[in-house]
Amino acid sequence: MPAGELVRIRCSRGSSIPTVAAHAEQLAACFGTREVRVHRDPEHAAWGTALLVRRDPLDGVTADGPWADATCPLSLWDAFPVGVDELGGTVTVSLPERNLLLGGEPGAGKSAAMSLVLATAAMDPTVKLWLLDGKLVELAAWQPCAERLAGPNLDDAIALLQAVRDEMERRYRELLATGVRKITRDAGLPLHAIACDELAFYLTAEDRKQRTRFAELLRDLVARGRAAGVIVIAATQKPAADVVPSALRDLFGFRLALRCTTPQASDTILGQGWASLGHTAATIAPTQRGIGLLLAEDGVPVRLRCFYLDDQAIDQLARRALLIRMDAALDAETPS
Ligand SMILES: Nc1ncnc2c1ncn2[C@@H]1O[C@H](COP(=O)(O)OP(=O)(O)OP(=O)(O)O)[C@@H](O)[C@H]1O
Ligand SMILES: [Mg+2]
Repeated sequence: MPAGELVRIRCSRGSSIPTVAAHAEQLAACFGTREVRVHRDPEHAAWGTALLVRRDPLDGVTADGPWADATCPLSLWDAFPVGVDELGGTVTVSLPERNLLLGGEPGAGKSAAMSLVLATAAMDPTVKLWLLDGKLVELAAWQPCAERLAGPNLDDAIALLQAVRDEMERRYRELLATGVRKITRDAGLPLHAIACDELAFYLTAEDRKQRTRFAELLRDLVARGRAAGVIVIAATQKPAADVVPSALRDLFGFRLALRCTTPQASDTILGQGWASLGHTAATIAPTQRGIGLLLAEDGVPVRLRCFYLDDQAIDQLARRALLIRMDAALDAETPS
């Protein structure tokens, strides 16, 4: 059964698509639908579409994903699957030269979505994994595969970021010496993935000096890390400017907005203005964990249900990842 109908709309003189979008609730009540989603035509201000949603197309979609069978080494250079869109297609993300910001209210599914990235990164034995975990327990499963894990301690977190920054500086010197502008898959240099869960914990620490230092280091890694193969994945409940400086937030190429309480909160993750164009994570129900909007640079937000790995699946994958890494280390030591 189709989930709804798509209607092309043209607004009359004096009106605009955002005005129609602002009345989406009234329209939904009038049509007797679950929701009405109004999107503006990017090429023409007078035209747009209204999606009359009768049932959520993502309800009942299986969220298992291809992870359970992943045994072989993966590569973080490749696009990897993160979920299913409303048409049943697999949504993928390619992280080299990108960074990913995940936001949403407590329990929306940020840490769960982050484990999809971590599973891919851990199963790529060439990736150097750095973990920052404001809760200490969320990322613990991946610690054996990581270079270092910093828990809820600002000194440890700053030391970790400093270590990656030293690595980045070293790499830029290498690139300069070889006359190359950025690292590529063929260069044989490892990608560095920094996963930071509960970013707000570090950015709102009591000691102003420490939190400023942390923010500066992270901003530098997000801003300059791209060409050096440094990828930052950060999750936070509140990415508003009073918590995450906009100079940092705006640098993330990929944004995943899981359920938010208000359209404004959704906009702080996706970027200003998307809610008024009909793309808001505030319409996601509290029970719809793992459903969100994914925005890639220069794109339009895509509504998806993220794949889900439960604790048992994460433990299994982390164990497999460790074996893959041990094998790769042995191979590297064995003379051919
Ligand atoms: N894609 C998903 N499919 C099904 N259930 C999910 C999905 N993502 C999350 N959940 C459920 O939601 C719960 C909360 O998810 P998660 O811990 O990732 O939220 P969070 O956004 O990180 O919350 P917090 O801000 O409190 O850390 C999970 O324990 C799981 O039961
Ligand atoms: Mg979490």
